[in-house]
Amino acid sequence: MTTFTPEQLKANTRLAWERSANGWNRQTPHIHAWLADATAAMLDAARISVGMRVLDIAAGAGDQTLEIARRVGPGGHVLATDISEAILQFAKDHAQHAGLAQVETRVCDAEELNVEEASFDAAVCRLGLMFCPDPLWALRQAQRAVKPGAHVTVLVFSEPQFNPCIGILMSTALHHAGLRPRDPFQPCSLLSLGKPGLLDELYRKAGFTNVSTSRIAAPFRLPSVRDYLDFVRTSASPIMQILGTLEPEAQEAAWAEMEDRLRAFQSPSGWEGPNELLLADGTRPTR
Ligand SMILES: C[S@@+](CC[C@H](N)C(=O)[O-])C[C@H]1O[C@@H](n2cnc3c(N)ncnc32)[C@H](O)[C@@H]1O
Repeated sequence: MTTFTPEQLKANTRLAWERSANGWNRQTPHIHAWLADATAAMLDAARISVGMRVLDIAAGAGDQTLEIARRVGPGGHVLATDISEAILQFAKDHAQHAGLAQVETRVCDAEELNVEEASFDAAVCRLGLMFCPDPLWALRQAQRAVKPGAHVTVLVFSEPQFNPCIGILMSTALHHAGLRPRDPFQPCSLLSLGKPGLLDELYRKAGFTNVSTSRIAAPFRLPSVRDYLDFVRTSASPIMQILGTLEPEAQEAAWAEMEDRLRAFQSPSGWEGPNELLLADGTRPTR
């Protein structure tokens, strides 16, 4: 098995998101609906309110950035950061289009946040921390960016059994590519921070106080299984990289099997893929 250095892992992640920026952005209406409740819970946990300065880490195409901007209002400020310039450009465009002048964007790695110490009232990260090769360092960077007593709140995927579609996609793709099953918790993967207790441990090691983690059901509801596969094909899924090594016909066979297996989640009213997220929160110590 090839092992990658943290730098290579990060470079792969960045490239994957540069290439998928357009696709992820096009899926924004679906992503917005899928994550609406979890996002509201994240912003509540971070105590985001009018007039605050908020750091949005790994902001992507900015769906949650806009929510934050509306909460803080014109007198507040949101700095949306991401490692991919291409995807962050969408966040910038959406904010401009929505007339949210309180949004600023800055391309930067979550592990090298080039922001002034203690300059934010809160920091959030929706579905980004699990892609960091060193999530503990990223949490330390986020803590450094916020004021004493302020919250750092993140959302990541939980364990494989509560996110079964990810497992179905991965096992089918690996099987078709003739590769061995992978550790679902491997670094930088979708479920890398889903191991029970891990996120709490990282928060504590990073020195946060009032640490808490809760589970949030986030079923992905779409008209059909085809819409889910469209989403997978247009996002920076590792499935695309795995299948990318196969001939087109072999790729299609893999997609057909995934569709077959994922049809288990189809009901008369549409398709509903179960997902579970972890919401972790902690505060920077006051002294
Ligand atoms: C699943 S998307 C989530 C985007 C957005 N937060 C949302 O929920 O719609 C993951 C994002 O993490 C970003 N990302 C991955 N690794 C990163 C890193 N080390 N630093 C900053 N951003 C990173 C990607 O570029 C991508 O935009």
